[in-house]
Amino acid sequence: MPAIKIGVIGAGSISAMHLQSYANHPDAELVAVCDLKEDRARQAAVKYGASQVYTDYRELLACPDIDAVSICTWNNTHAAISIAALEAGKHVLVEKPLCRTVEEALSMQEAVRASGKLLQVGFVRRYDPNAQLLRSFVDHDEFGGIYFAKASAIRRLGNPGGWFADRERSGGGPVIDIGVHVIDLCWYMMGRPKPVSVSANTYSKLGNRSGVRHLSFYKAADYDADLNTVEDMANALIRFDNGASLLVDVSFTLHAKENATSIKLYGEKGGFELEPEIAIVTEKHHTILNIEPQTDHKSLQIDAAFQAEIDHFVACVRSGTPPISPVEDGVAIMKILCGIYESAAKGAEVRL
Ligand SMILES: NC(=O)c1ccc[n+]([C@@H]2O[C@H](COP(=O)([O-])OP(=O)(O)OC[C@H]3O[C@@H](n4cnc5c(N)ncnc54)[C@H](O)[C@@H]3O)[C@@H](O)[C@H]2O)c1
Repeated sequence: MPAIKIGVIGAGSISAMHLQSYANHPDAELVAVCDLKEDRARQAAVKYGASQVYTDYRELLACPDIDAVSICTWNNTHAAISIAALEAGKHVLVEKPLCRTVEEALSMQEAVRASGKLLQVGFVRRYDPNAQLLRSFVDHDEFGGIYFAKASAIRRLGNPGGWFADRERSGGGPVIDIGVHVIDLCWYMMGRPKPVSVSANTYSKLGNRSGVRHLSFYKAADYDADLNTVEDMANALIRFDNGASLLVDVSFTLHAKENATSIKLYGEKGGFELEPEIAIVTEKHHTILNIEPQTDHKSLQIDAAFQAEIDHFVACVRSGTPPISPVEDGVAIMKILCGIYESAAKGAEVRL
């Protein structure tokens, strides 16, 4: 079978994970790279062996050789580029978050349905080996009904600056940038229950703290600390139609002692943790058991997760089967994320 021909749109920080994973894949051929900054696109094309370089994604999409694209651009461009790609007959892997608003998300869903092409949302944590392992335990009903989940993604210092800190281009701060990962993972593990309400708070108390020295953190390719219109911190309680609930807190900066990610879920027969370390808790013969699954990595292994995400995309394009992170899931997560901002703005619980 001929290789799936790939274009990567957006050649900034995270694109390297896509480019390297395609380069590793025997059934994928990197054909083109596009970035507003030609030098950046060209450097990536040379490094990963793509022959075509573009600065206008519409020109890349007009190339009949390309079967599928990864979209690794600013959040405000995800909807327009995805829709244009689908209309041009390309399959799409779009980075998280799906987009900025529920309206954009619904128009992307409509474009997927009208085109018959597939769109995979880059919920990379779902593809981590430990996440898939625990998901198979969930599928075998090891934990019973999961009724509570608690997720935390705290950076004491980590506003990536540039477009990430510009609400117009990002859609928001830590909620939409890192909260999206942990909220999605809990929701996926809980069996994707329908969210019905959100009660949330956002805080903008500390700014981006760009003056802090001696600590490094993830930065946008065009880091710029001058602009910051996003929240520093947020917390939220999300209720689902089956009675389950999810409690979340996230920050780009906070007077916390250290960065900390924690993802914990609790069911009727047992519980499990993905972060900070994989663990299972259950009860047998009137005894509580804390179980340590023996796996290669105790927590998220980012390279393996991206490789699995790309492998899954290529396999879905090949077979025509829907991805495990389809556009519908992206829409549901956008409803939760936007609900968090709406609730915080109103200072009250909102119905979804
Ligand atoms: N899955 C993850 O863990 C993860 C991690 C980081 C970022 N991301 C997501 O990846 C996306 C990119 O983030 P990043 O950290 O690489 O940002 P970045 O700023 O480092 O890179 C973005 C690149 O997109 C280019 N770009 C913007 N608009 C464009 C357009 N219309 N056409 C062509 N190029 C365009 C910019 O010039 C820049 O080079 C975001 O949606 C972000 O949320 C995902």
